[in-house]
Amino acid sequence: MELVVEGRAFVKGRLSNWSIGIEDGRIVALGKNLKGDRKIDCRHMLILPAAIDPHVHFRDPGLTAKEDFSTGTLAAAFGGVGCVLDMPNTLPPAVKLIDLKEKKEAISGKAWIDHGLFAGCMPREKLEPMAPFAAGFKMFMGSSTGNLLVTEDADMKRIGREVKATGKVLSVHAEDESLIGNELERDLHDHMRNRPAEAEVSAINKLPPLGCRVNVCHISSAEGLRAAEGLKLHKEVAAHHMLLDRESKSGAFAKVNPPLRTEQDRLALLQAFITGRIEMLGSDHAPHTAEEKEQEFAAAPSGMPGVETQVPVMLSLVKKGTLPLDVLVRAMAERPAALFGLNKGRIEVGRDADLMIVDTRSMGGIKVNNLHSKCGWTLYEGFDAIFPHAVMLRGSVVVEEGSVVGERAGRDVFAGP
Ligand code: DOR
Ligand code: ZN
Ligand code: ZN
Repeated sequence: MELVVEGRAFVKGRLSNWSIGIEDGRIVALGKNLKGDRKIDCRHMLILPAAIDPHVHFRDPGLTAKEDFSTGTLAAAFGGVGCVLDMPNTLPPAVKLIDLKEKKEAISGKAWIDHGLFAGCMPREKLEPMAPFAAGFKMFMGSSTGNLLVTEDADMKRIGREVKATGKVLSVHAEDESLIGNELERDLHDHMRNRPAEAEVSAINKLPPLGCRVNVCHISSAEGLRAAEGLKLHKEVAAHHMLLDRESKSGAFAKVNPPLRTEQDRLALLQAFITGRIEMLGSDHAPHTAEEKEQEFAAAPSGMPGVETQVPVMLSLVKKGTLPLDVLVRAMAERPAALFGLNKGRIEVGRDADLMIVDTRSMGGIKVNNLHSKCGWTLYEGFDAIFPHAVMLRGSVVVEEGSVVGERAGRDVFAGP
């Protein structure tokens, strides 16, 4: 055996002592006292599957003043993430095969962790040619950062049919454009008024007839959650909708689509997540420069960083006894792996050895200076968090004790034929 990692590991739904045998980047044995050429002893720590973040905006190519694939994936690694799925609203948008391929060229060799790219849906672009190269498809039903938008029922129907034929997942930004207002916005309350929960509910209700597998991204309201729960849809939630609300004092820095809503909405989402009723955690990491966010509220772009802080804050909730560990592991790793068909997300023979080693004694406050996103700001300053002691990608340690130790060896998991 090349490598054996030993400690309390999350295997088959619970923590117990295991020796994990690794060869060629894969888990090849699970047992007790396995012998290996090298051994990593994590006896006083937890070994969890590395997280899979099914929703990030790394801004490469075209918007790399906000983030690029190198800084984005490094931030992800420090936050316990071994694989990200990146959204198509880059420049040019990844909505045609040629753009998707050029995006792959642009980011080639930059990634610290594994990744897949979403292909974007537009009213008149064919989807099938992109399928072999895409992790899934993304449809914006309401306008947000970039110009991706689908508003006509006939276009949605066609998209649903095409996505179904590819067998991929359609991840949806579910806000009904026709219900989004245009009043001048001065603060977070105004932003929520322009983008009410009804817009979310209306969009969600249009999804089941599409007929393909659909993932509702970043559910943001109690009503939206209720609507999605009654339907055959996959559900994703972002940490910011569970931890922050429109009473935030951060002004335009906390402007995001869908918006931060009431404390009641926030608590409903948090409670649903804790009780395992929302299947996936997706950061919707959407960095913008501080300069852009310092503009007047109405002019500032929407979105906030989160890929590095999301899992560490959730681990602090586990430590406090608020969030069951098995619920977190399912939402951050097992379910995204299952939905998008990744050979990751579980400590199981045959899977990639993407692991996060966690010292639960190391809780501390988040400090922006210790984070790695290019945008250089966070809404989680001072929040309790447990950053992983180390993160391993396919058997190689990438980051350890706050330092980069590994190679830049991230792979495109959907490289195509
Ligand atoms: O707030 C948001 N920011 N919502 C989105 O849908 C896109 C994202 C971005 O890319 O900035
Ligand atoms: Zn979105
Ligand atoms: Zn997004």
